[in-house]
Amino acid sequence: MPAGVLNSYKELLPLTNATPMITLGEGDTPLVKSNRLGRELGCPELYFKLEGCNPTGSFKDRGMVVAIAKALEEGSQAIMCASTGNTSASAAAFGAYCDLPTFVLIPKGEVAMGKLAQAMAYGAKVIMVNGNFDVALGLVREFTKKNQVTLVNSVNPHRIEGQKTAAFELVDSLGDAPDFLFIPVGNAGNITAYWKGFKEYQSLERSRTLPSMMGFQAEGAAPIVRGEPVANPQTIASAIRIGNPATWNGAVDARDESGGVIDSVSDDEILEAYRQLASKEGIFCEPASAASFAGLVKLLRQGWDLHDKTIVCVCTGNGLKDPDLAVSSAGGNTAEVEANIEAIEAATLGNGR
Ligand code: F0G
Repeated sequence: MPAGVLNSYKELLPLTNATPMITLGEGDTPLVKSNRLGRELGCPELYFKLEGCNPTGSFKDRGMVVAIAKALEEGSQAIMCASTGNTSASAAAFGAYCDLPTFVLIPKGEVAMGKLAQAMAYGAKVIMVNGNFDVALGLVREFTKKNQVTLVNSVNPHRIEGQKTAAFELVDSLGDAPDFLFIPVGNAGNITAYWKGFKEYQSLERSRTLPSMMGFQAEGAAPIVRGEPVANPQTIASAIRIGNPATWNGAVDARDESGGVIDSVSDDEILEAYRQLASKEGIFCEPASAASFAGLVKLLRQGWDLHDKTIVCVCTGNGLKDPDLAVSSAGGNTAEVEANIEAIEAATLGNGR
């Protein structure tokens, strides 16, 4: 089967004969069973969906391929998004691939280095705004209303259509929906998309069950948990540093219809989860992605009994996106030695020194 989200799920996406079947190889990401953490935590049926394996290193490519294909179909001449980094990387890559000029608005100084590097390398026009993500998204909405430029943030419904394919893949891999889906929540497009995907698959009788949707925001950027926008969102997880999610209602519906939860995790909990995923599972995701696993740990500490449940934590983006944080938070298990065998032995086996 040809690769890509459009080819794999044609009949469940809003495609026509005129839609170009583009792909950068997005989707079909690994679902990896936990080897250590699940056992340690007493929930052996724990899986991680590695969305960092998408071509630009995050789940955004699933929705972007649909948004861009539809933009091309409609004769669009340029695309624009606001971003905490991953959407801009994805838009820039597909813009380059399809020869569509790409404008990305990012909050100045708040985007992880790897993501900024991507947008620049792919040749997008990178516009750094003196304001946060919410402000940048407001400007993009206003600009794209006034100008012939296609908005490719997740308020573009084609983005949600593409992103729902991750839920299809989970059911295709597990044979049914998981009992619980843990997922980070920022602008709230992705939780909305997964829920749509699970419901569609169930109505097509490709799954029997639906999961409980467990969304986690960062404590300093948790508007849905608090029930009101956060004017100045703060968290180490820059990808989800969002105070007024565009798809707020979609997240609330996913929670309420699924009997799920939207809760928050602290930066310390996020960092602990981030380190544990890397050092105990070999999964290097970005801090925002670790909010899903951090949420699971939080609920288990609160006494939730999930020992016989199938649980999926979505790892939304690759850890290489944010190398500065990785190096500064890794705990420093490094050594600098002279170039001789005694020094190597001392550093490894610890004999002598
Ligand atoms: N995880 C990562 C790595 C993200 O980049 C994002 C969002 C999320 C989770 C949250 O997903 O917004 O659909 O609730 N990043 C957007 C961006 C905002 O601009 O790249 P969401």
